Amino acid sequence: MLHQRTLFTVSALLLLCLALPLRAQTYDYDPANGQEINELCSGCHGEFGQGGKDGEYPRVASQPLEFIANQLRLFRDRKRKNFAMVEYIDDRQLPESDIYDISRYLSEITLKTQLAPVDENAPDFDAYARLLESKMIMQIPRAEGDIERGERIYNKECDSCHGKGGWGNHRNAGPMLAGQYTNYLWRQVEQLRTKQRIHDEESPEEELLNEFSDQDLTDIFAYLSVMDD
Ligand code: HEC
Ligand code: HEC
Repeated sequence: MLHQRTLFTVSALLLLCLALPLRAQTYDYDPANGQEINELCSGCHGEFGQGGKDGEYPRVASQPLEFIANQLRLFRDRKRKNFAMVEYIDDRQLPESDIYDISRYLSEITLKTQLAPVDENAPDFDAYARLLESKMIMQIPRAEGDIERGERIYNKECDSCHGKGGWGNHRNAGPMLAGQYTNYLWRQVEQLRTKQRIHDEESPEEELLNEFSDQDLTDIFAYLSVMDD
């Protein structure tokens, strides 16, 4: 009897270990691996994760690490649709330790919003360095809408999860919305409203954006689009 109970306890413990979510594991960060994986991603998302084709490919640089990792798992598990990316994030190609490395690599890239003025005629002017620097500039064009009204709604309804000024929230893996292409945000609104994407894991049934009109969102996005000015 006793023996059987011990066995039961041991196997229950074993099961518990297996069931522990992988994300609770920590990995030694390998930046070289992150950089190498980024060569795959950069074909669409750009060398510095700045995105491309006017928002067909979203900006991924400086997003919260956990947000990036969550999206990669959702794509991998086919819970978020993305035909373009699927083959790059298959289990075999991107195990959890790789997901950690690439997510951290991208989250640590900072993109400037403006080029600092320099004297191009100065003797130490380095044209190549300047070119590289200019590639890491990202400016979202100003979107139409009532910026002040957008700011009021944003601060009341979105700020707690998306961070001050829309720059992301690392605590709850809330993505940055400022510094992201406006048309990309609209595409996600569509996916969230139709529940192809789950906005808030804690209440998956209620889509919070359905409480806001297109005008509300237009104004919010107008506000977000000037955050990098
Ligand atoms: C073939 C093109 C392509 C490649 C390669 C690619 N992606 Fe993507 N990725 C996309 C597209 C398209 C979307 C947007 C899907 C949508 O509109 O919902 C996306 C979305 C994302 C998102 C979600 C961003 C957000 O704010 O919602 C993340 C994170 C991401 N990709 C990371 C990566 C990483 C990391 C790699 C490399 C391992 C990678 N992608 C490789 C095309 C690509
Ligand atoms: C309860 C927290 C919470 C609130 C409040 C909230 N969001 Fe979100 N939002 C999130 C999270 C978390 C995600 C990422 C979901 C995922 O992992 O797929 C997200 C994703 C988004 C996205 C997709 C971004 C991307 O890059 O994929 C948009 C757009 C968005 N939210 C807009 C808004 C707006 C506008 C408001 C205010 C009206 C708002 N959200 C309020 C938590 C929240």
